[in-house]
Amino acid sequence: MDYNIVDYSSEYKGLMQFNKNKSEYIHQWYSFVEGYSKEFIESILNELNYTPLHCLEPFAGSGTTPLELQKKKIACTSFEVNPFMHKLATTKMETRYTTKAFIRSSKLVKDIIEDSAISMTLVYEKLSIPKYKTIVEGDQLKKWMFNKDIFDTFMKIKYAISFVKDSKYKNIFEIACASLLLKYSNVYRNGKCLSYKRDWKDLDLKKEDLLFEFYEKLNITILNDIKKLNELTKNELVSNKQNCYYGDIRKSIATLKDNSVDLVITSPPYLNTRDYTDIYMIELWMLDLIKDYDSLKKLRKSTLRSHVQVAYDDLTPLKIDILTNVVDEINKHKNKFWNRNLLNMIIGYFEDMNILFYNLSKKLTNYGKIYFNVANSSYYGVLIEVDKIIAEIAKLHGFKIEEIRIAREISPSAQQKEVGKLRESVIVIKK
Ligand SMILES: C[S@@+](CC[C@H](N)C(=O)[O-])C[C@H]1O[C@@H](n2cnc3c(N)ncnc32)[C@H](O)[C@@H]1O
Repeated sequence: MDYNIVDYSSEYKGLMQFNKNKSEYIHQWYSFVEGYSKEFIESILNELNYTPLHCLEPFAGSGTTPLELQKKKIACTSFEVNPFMHKLATTKMETRYTTKAFIRSSKLVKDIIEDSAISMTLVYEKLSIPKYKTIVEGDQLKKWMFNKDIFDTFMKIKYAISFVKDSKYKNIFEIACASLLLKYSNVYRNGKCLSYKRDWKDLDLKKEDLLFEFYEKLNITILNDIKKLNELTKNELVSNKQNCYYGDIRKSIATLKDNSVDLVITSPPYLNTRDYTDIYMIELWMLDLIKDYDSLKKLRKSTLRSHVQVAYDDLTPLKIDILTNVVDEINKHKNKFWNRNLLNMIIGYFEDMNILFYNLSKKLTNYGKIYFNVANSSYYGVLIEVDKIIAEIAKLHGFKIEEIRIAREISPSAQQKEVGKLRESVIVIKK
């Protein structure tokens, strides 16, 4: 091995989790568990021996990287394939909000919600119910995501938002509403999927609490951040919003100019069978970002191959010893596979990484650096050292590995306990 694996667990303590962003200016608008903290971005800027001019974030997620960089007046181009995350990231990067217009639109929304003359019949004349099968309590269902009164309240909020003309503010209200969907539903994000909360039928979810939290989010959290934003002068304001593109990075990265990027900070989906389309199902359907099952299928196909939801013809792994060994080892358990796409997912994931690094080698300047946050995985007791395999892929495209930093050790799923803790790391890569 021509690089070191270095213990950074004390330097990165808490930095790789979104938790630290929970009460931070703008980051706090939506709690995105799969993101990292703004401090991670700061730590990178502090250690660089050059001032970056143009960063690339291939997997924007909630927009932590481009948002934090715009605060430091650094341009960042980002990509995101999930329409909900794209809306979330771009709403947070918008800088043209004014306190006055926000208060005016908030009042309009509240007045409509509170207007008792607006019946649910009127609401449902204008809005259609999402086609997701178990979205709302119904006679034929055994399980449902929302109880009827909570669902109606969300629909009334949506109805009120539909009267806001300026899409900037409409987006904020939608994000505020989305930030409460899961809490007031009967499900939770259980790592890889949505699961029903324990004793979900006995949960005492109240529409009054939902509305209280919605108004509080608008009138305290978001309003205070907009006030703070308005205190900044014009030359302090940079927005990376226009350069946050909606689409599949594997195709879109080619549109970037060669040698135009001097920093990459990112965290791709991990190789853990988590399908972001699945776990953000409620947000996608409730905000009308997905309207039918065909579009859902299409969206899944455009996501990185880190899950088993899409079937591909049999794939051949890249010729990297540590990858082919892992594939052979896992293949020995073929008759026990809980999903027949498992091996293809593993092979496909690294193929996707290969496409990414092929393109990155063209886009990154000679002095540029890549900070790549990933985690290892295991299936059937076979450890997949994702960081080391990605390091080999990067080397195939002419990159050098400065080091792999151990950020923390994470617990594998109950079925994979035998491999012990799994390394979450940051691969530091240069040309
Ligand atoms: C780990 S999250 C990124 C989190 C981000 N660093 C943050 O702090 O919010 C990975 C993101 O990659 C997105 N993604 C998956 N496949 C993609 C693709 N083919 N192109 C672009 N984005 C993709 C997912 O939707 C998800 O939002």
